[in-house]
Amino acid sequence: MHGHDDPAPYDLLVVGSANADLVVGVERRPGPGETVLGSDLAVHPGGKGANQAVAAARLGARTALLARVGDDAHGLLLRASQQQAGVDTGGVLVGGAPTGVALITVDPSGDNSIVVSPGANARLTPQDVRAAAPLFASARVVSVQLEIPLDTVAETARALAPGARLVLNPSPPAPLPAEVLTACDPLVVNEHEARALLGDGADGTPEDRARALVALGPHSVVITLGAEGALVLDTRTDGGPVRVPSPRVAAVDTTGAGDAFTAALAWRLGLGEDLARAAAFAVRVGAAAVTREGAQASFPTAEEVAAL
Ligand code: RIB
Repeated sequence: MHGHDDPAPYDLLVVGSANADLVVGVERRPGPGETVLGSDLAVHPGGKGANQAVAAARLGARTALLARVGDDAHGLLLRASQQQAGVDTGGVLVGGAPTGVALITVDPSGDNSIVVSPGANARLTPQDVRAAAPLFASARVVSVQLEIPLDTVAETARALAPGARLVLNPSPPAPLPAEVLTACDPLVVNEHEARALLGDGADGTPEDRARALVALGPHSVVITLGAEGALVLDTRTDGGPVRVPSPRVAAVDTTGAGDAFTAALAWRLGLGEDLARAAAFAVRVGAAAVTREGAQASFPTAEEVAAL
């Protein structure tokens, strides 16, 4: 189906962060000035960009990653994880600073708290995006998050091939320029990110927030609602916001579930599915991802999603 003449040999290009996740399980998080004991340290490949690339590739998407890691052991761990999943790592640049690190605590309910030290992610520049023009020319969907500089995100929006689609998860949330907001199709947020973007306009129901978010400029919006699934709103259909329920699962570790959701959504949109249908698949991918520990290690194959 996809021969040498295919103008879009990548289903998905992810532009984003790659972090080593340093994870400790805790009974409860310490307050200011307090010390608590936790579990043994686990080191996993993570970072929102690297997570999305692995999630998509594991589902079967032809995926490339544009990212920057340090010339160090964490960088090797991240490259190995991408390659094992089948991601094209030709766009994974090396050097400039240590690999990004995420300090993660996971509590007994599976919820996590994360502090990110961006390291090399902060050195992924607009020039790196321009130099990756062949990757952009080959991608039908480009997915980006906010663990890299905002200038680099803006350049990513400018670098899209004609007809290519931009999926943005503004995480961690930051004020976005109009040129980025109006390029999003969709903007993918959780409730926390929706409130951060809307500020005083965040009152009401998730449906109200979805309407307020599309008023900021995106062609479409997806709000993830944790165990409740997701809500989608596409300005090109006149049906209004649509709820997409999630299968019920026992959460062990939610780390990376949002990344798996967004990657699955982006891939299915690139295959031509409408937003509600793509989100219905993506909530199943996100649900599968919370049933196992870690970020990338928890992401399902297409067969595992079908069995859920
Ligand atoms: O979304 C989860 C990711 O956020 C983790 O893998 C961590 O690296 C942080 O970037």
